[in-house]
Amino acid sequence: MIGVYDSGVGGLSVWKELYGLMPAEDFIYFADNAHCPYGDKPIEYIRDRARKVTSFFVDKGAEIVVVACNTATAAAIDMLRSEFSVPFVGMEPAIKPAAVATKSGVVGILATANTFKGSIYKHTREEFASDIKVIEVVGHGLVEAVESSQIPYSLLERYVGEIVGQGADVIVLGCTHFPFLQDQIQKIAGNDVLVINPAPAVARHTAKLLGYENKYFSSSVGKNLFYSSGSSDSLKGVLSNLCPFDPDLFHAELE
Ligand code: DGL
Repeated sequence: MIGVYDSGVGGLSVWKELYGLMPAEDFIYFADNAHCPYGDKPIEYIRDRARKVTSFFVDKGAEIVVVACNTATAAAIDMLRSEFSVPFVGMEPAIKPAAVATKSGVVGILATANTFKGSIYKHTREEFASDIKVIEVVGHGLVEAVESSQIPYSLLERYVGEIVGQGADVIVLGCTHFPFLQDQIQKIAGNDVLVINPAPAVARHTAKLLGYENKYFSSSVGKNLFYSSGSSDSLKGVLSNLCPFDPDLFHAELE
């Protein structure tokens, strides 16, 4: 069983890719939406939630945990690896592919405040983007909009405008909620701008860790359980567009 979690529905952008590659696996998804957003909460708070969700997954039989949240990865993945024996996969800030793809030498990263504060982001930026200009934009309000099924056009225009206005030709979606706004972001940025969603690469990496070698086809379908700590409305709404079957939804507060 593969545990996948996020502060809310964002991690479903990763579950979708994981499920697409490995439909025969069993998945347990946890949307910690009673505590969403994580983006500007204290680091200790996010770590405490990460411990609780991971313990829940391990009790349910998860053998690997995908932290499908850039903010939780930044705040908690080192701690999780030191406290639990299951393997973890985190969200990589896709700075390397952005640095490879840019022609203008300017890339934009759209993420939460806590993701930019994390050492993973800082090290990746130093390692792969020391000779390009990186524009960091905190997407205030975007996570909340996705959670409530809104398209925040004016915020997107402001954030994307700030990035593209400085000459960026690549935008990295540094938060797993943002792929749900990718079409709008692409439209505002224009077709000359590459918008990178790191979820497919994270799913491929997870599949590799689980021993899948390029060939993923399976005729059987595994079990998928979807939990939330708050209302299940947002999960239900997003899954109605993503999920090829009738999803099983459950509630667990994990206090
Ligand atoms: N999906 C989370 C991320 O990738 C959102 C964080 C939040 O809740 O603010 O960063």
